[in-house]
Amino acid sequence: MIEYRSVRKSYNGTEVVRGIDLTVRDGELVVLIGPSGCGKTTTLKMLNRLIPMDGGDILIDGKSIMEQDPITLRRSIGYVIQQTGLFPHMTIEENIQVVPKLKKMPPEEIRQRTIAMMEMVDMDPQQFLHRYPGQLSGGQQQRIGVARAFATNPDIILMDEPFSALDPITRGQLQDELVELQGRFHKTILFVTHDMNEAVKIADRICILYDGQILQYDTPEQILKNPADGFVSQFVGRNRIWNSPDLIKARDIMILDPVTTSGELTLLQAIEVMRQQKVDSLLVIDHHHRLKGLITARMIRQAGDRSALVRDTMDPDCMTVAADDSIVNLLRMLQERQVSSVPVVGEDRLLMGLITTSSLVTTLGARFVDA
Ligand SMILES: Nc1ncnc2c1ncn2[C@@H]1O[C@H](COP(=O)(O)OP(=O)(O)O)[C@@H](O)[C@H]1O
Ligand SMILES: [Mg+2]
Repeated sequence: MIEYRSVRKSYNGTEVVRGIDLTVRDGELVVLIGPSGCGKTTTLKMLNRLIPMDGGDILIDGKSIMEQDPITLRRSIGYVIQQTGLFPHMTIEENIQVVPKLKKMPPEEIRQRTIAMMEMVDMDPQQFLHRYPGQLSGGQQQRIGVARAFATNPDIILMDEPFSALDPITRGQLQDELVELQGRFHKTILFVTHDMNEAVKIADRICILYDGQILQYDTPEQILKNPADGFVSQFVGRNRIWNSPDLIKARDIMILDPVTTSGELTLLQAIEVMRQQKVDSLLVIDHHHRLKGLITARMIRQAGDRSALVRDTMDPDCMTVAADDSIVNLLRMLQERQVSSVPVVGEDRLLMGLITTSSLVTTLGARFVDA
């Protein structure tokens, strides 16, 4: 875990980092984003002590970085920058092996690890290990930068606009690969960018910096939906949520108090409830508020005998969704199954809400269009 505590930095009397409090959990990919000059790089470099802080403290796993030898600290943290930082006069192999050799890893382990790292970033070792950085494309050099940062298997990796200079296609590929690597290796990553699309795509949490301070630190979903203030919403872009419909979840649009009934009611009584509540279906629940089934006006019509019980007539296997299911899946389900409503359930089928095709349209309209 990384903890910034009231961290400050000034240059010539001007404070450029003004009291940063930031916690990054193990295995989390946190993106620092903000306009040029807001202090992103400075914030990053204070962690591996490339820049000394003027106030506050930074802890790694509870231990202050000031109590650690700066060189050892730096070698224990992977670092990838925009200009790759590869040494031009060294081959790719030598570049990847710099820190492992400094750390005196056994030669056989270094050899194996170099090959594994090349394969990890999808570069053929045979073809590339003996080339020089200048003989690689920008995207290939950046892959090597990533391989090098992973080479000593550090727990923490810092990445300062690593993909900013790349063309959009290569950039998109490397973002996908980073997400994939992160899923496999669970590094703790601090990633700097000024591109909101990049941030949303890769981050577990996004930290928005402005003028040396944190404006908002939250999940991409929350930042898009509830930007903290004028600057953040401007930065995020108005109605950007529509560009990321997969970030809208069932919980955001469900009706919270759908009409429910007990299975012990007769069909006659159920019809009466529907009439009073002006609905054409009821969610059947037990006394723990767990969903037992769904009954519709049509099912009652087809049943005939109005003295029969709801529990014997309802559909006990009705389709349900989880609160975290995205609206994209939901729309697909509603369409494929030709149903007009879906209950939202939690653990043990606890009823949380209901989504209907008409509520979908109205709720979405009210919540996001006017926002
Ligand atoms: N060595 C330095 N001397 C003086 N000012 C600096 C130095 N390094 C950075 N700054 C200033 O500190 C501020 C933050 O810089 P930086 O952290 O590099 O921003 P970012 O990475 O967000 O673009 C900027 O205004 C920058 O000009
Ligand atoms: Mg910078």
